[in-house]
Amino acid sequence: MRFSLNTFVLASLVGMTIGQDTSLSTVKKAFDNAAILSDLGITFNPSVLLEVSYPVPEQRPIAIRAGIELPQKSMRGVGPPNFSVVGAQCNTSFVVAVIDPDAPTPENPITSQIRHFLGGNFNCSSENNTPRSLVNATAAITEYTHPTLPTDSAAHRIIYFLFKQPAGFVSQKFVMHNTPREHFDLKAFASVTGLGDPIGGTFMLFGQNP
Ligand SMILES: *[C@@H]1O[C@H](CO)[C@@H](O)[C@H](O)[C@H]1NC(C)=O
Ligand SMILES: *[C@@H]1O[C@H](CO)[C@@H](O)[C@H](O)[C@H]1NC(C)=O
Ligand SMILES: *[C@@H]1O[C@H](CO)[C@@H](O)[C@H](O)[C@H]1NC(C)=O
Ligand SMILES: *[C@@H]1O[C@H](CO)[C@@H](O)[C@H](O)[C@H]1NC(C)=O
Repeated sequence: MRFSLNTFVLASLVGMTIGQDTSLSTVKKAFDNAAILSDLGITFNPSVLLEVSYPVPEQRPIAIRAGIELPQKSMRGVGPPNFSVVGAQCNTSFVVAVIDPDAPTPENPITSQIRHFLGGNFNCSSENNTPRSLVNATAAITEYTHPTLPTDSAAHRIIYFLFKQPAGFVSQKFVMHNTPREHFDLKAFASVTGLGDPIGGTFMLFGQNP
């Protein structure tokens, strides 16, 4: 019984995870529907598609599409996500941030935002195919950690944003490698570092095991 349920869940996930986001307006609508921008106080009018894909050992990677529901169990053993971009000018470097505004629970997010990843110096890979992989030239400021949910929590919105990297970003001291991940404020960080508004993004609804 348990086996067949898992098999069913896996099969439906494979079906769900073939596609990445393909439309900027669909991404924007999904962000609006999930009240992300009002909760974060962020302005987001995406001009590029950010593709996020989690490598899974021996399996096809899990692709994130804006608003996709992924049970925690289905992501066990995933590696840090890979990022790529569709539609960007590649004459600049990029910054990627991954945050959870719903920790420990969406009803009472007192430790939010959790900063699951923050890294700069991502460049488009040299091949000119679409999508173009984003490859980092330096270590992340905050290394990726995968979210975990308290057992009674509703799904968390795990949000991925892409920014153009402003001049001087590498010398910023507002978030260092040892800065606690909790109580992060992406809007304030973007403001003090000159990141401006994100140019791309997507998110998943990361939920309990079914
Ligand atoms: C993910 O990124 C790593 C490091 O850049 C690379 O070695 C790996 O091939 C990438 N995996 C996929 C599925 O693109
Ligand atoms: C990148 O290229 C675009 C289009 O050619 C141009 O508008 C923009 O100013 C360039 N950006 C940089 C940082 O050179
Ligand atoms: C990344 O891109 C920037 C802007 O185009 C460029 O100045 C820099 O040299 C690139 N870095 C690497 C490691 O290719
Ligand atoms: C790119 O980022 C990953 C994760 O932070 C890190 O392990 C790797 O060393 C970085 N690449 C370079 C060239 O620093």
